Amino acid sequence: MPRSSVHKMRAVALLATCLAVTVSPSYAAGPKILKTKFTSTLVDISSAGGKALGFSKVNAGNEPDAPATNAILKAVATVEAGNNQEFTEVLIDTGSAILWVGGEEAYEPGPNSKLIGDFSIGYGIGGAGGPAYTDRVKIGDAVVNSQIIGAANATSGLALVKPIDGILGLGPANSNSGQIIGFNSTPTFIESLVNEGVIHEPVFGIEISSLDAGSGNQITTGEITFGGIDEDRIVGDVVWLDQLPPINFRWSFNVTSFSFGTRQLSTDTMPGRTDTGVLLIGLPFDFLFDVLRSIPGTTIVSDGVLGGTLAFPSNVTADSLPPFNLGLGDQLFELPASKYLVPKPLYTSLNLTEDFTYSWLGSAGQGSFMLGQKWLENIYTAYDMEGHRVGFAHLK
Ligand SMILES: *[C@@H]1O[C@H](CO)[C@@H](O)[C@H](O)[C@H]1NC(C)=O
Ligand SMILES: *[C@@H]1O[C@H](CO)[C@@H](O)[C@H](O)[C@H]1NC(C)=O
Ligand SMILES: *[C@@H]1O[C@H](CO)[C@@H](O)[C@H](O)[C@H]1NC(C)=O
Ligand SMILES: *[C@@H]1O[C@H](CO)[C@@H](O)[C@H](O)[C@H]1NC(C)=O
Repeated sequence: MPRSSVHKMRAVALLATCLAVTVSPSYAAGPKILKTKFTSTLVDISSAGGKALGFSKVNAGNEPDAPATNAILKAVATVEAGNNQEFTEVLIDTGSAILWVGGEEAYEPGPNSKLIGDFSIGYGIGGAGGPAYTDRVKIGDAVVNSQIIGAANATSGLALVKPIDGILGLGPANSNSGQIIGFNSTPTFIESLVNEGVIHEPVFGIEISSLDAGSGNQITTGEITFGGIDEDRIVGDVVWLDQLPPINFRWSFNVTSFSFGTRQLSTDTMPGRTDTGVLLIGLPFDFLFDVLRSIPGTTIVSDGVLGGTLAFPSNVTADSLPPFNLGLGDQLFELPASKYLVPKPLYTSLNLTEDFTYSWLGSAGQGSFMLGQKWLENIYTAYDMEGHRVGFAHLK
């Protein structure tokens, strides 16, 4: 995208300011942990033109994550910015690392907005672009006085999650290089909160709202905490795992074991990652086939919205399927069948027939796990941007 040299100069000036703030954080008075509620919504597929979930993108490994294109359930929060505007449908995404809005209602510069240049981000299929500002941005209880925010004037490939106001990227520090054009990398919302002394530690915790296994209705409200984790939402200790290199890429870690009922699929360590912007439960390709072969009549859905996922024969129910057990550090996290099967009441809106018992299980590629929304409904996760670790805890 073309940009004027004026923008470039502004951009350079801004970067200098950011660096200065980073060097001398002021631990001013203020609450230590700030909370933001968020919700998961079901997107009716019939309105999305029957597009597939983009599994090939998940399989592709090194491609940028495709949060929007992979979601049918959206985890969204409200972002206040611009000219006194409220953007209520902002996707929470641990798989990318800039904030932008304007996907539905245009961002209007407000009293605190300063134009700094342009932004451009791609999510595998599609993306967003437009001018970039610094602005006062409020998300739940958390306020940043000078946050870089993209004001999209063009988006593409996001039809499946419409309406979508924008994306709040919560990926690792320095994983957004070049997305605000002319900048190497820019502070995420979490880093800005630390830089401005609002929170003391660049740590955040996420609980994805859970859907009832029977009805498909939302039964818990999701939450992000900035500055720490919400002890009220978890039981037991947080297992912290070191991020796998490169640490400025994505939230990845070693999975220690994996089993399907009594079938021990892996006792070797294998890489895994979390991505709140992606819907599915992503298993290593070989394991997906192992599960397929172990239950006669199981198949891979060839097309439609659940293309690439496992479908069990219709005589199989949650009662006849064993749980998965994921080993993280010294803890086991159980995923019961009721949580990896698509609730029957959702079949109509997902354009599925009763010929199969459908699941959220898909391939995350060769030899790696991807913990998307349906997995994270069952596991509390925490992210330490300074310690470069990912934490896991059992939900209350
Ligand atoms: C619903 O599924 C049928 C096949 O089962 C397909 O022909 C149709 O195009 C789908 N509709 C949408 C909106 O995806
Ligand atoms: C969208 O924003 C870009 C970057 O600021 C700009 O170059 C372009 O002219 C804008 N397009 C429209 C249609 O406003
Ligand atoms: C992950 O597991 C591999 C293989 O066991 C090991 O070599 C590596 O050190 C582990 N990395 C971390 C960060 O735990
Ligand atoms: C379920 O149906 C499949 C074929 O679709 C069959 O092979 C299997 O034996 C059936 N299982 C049960 C428990 O009836």
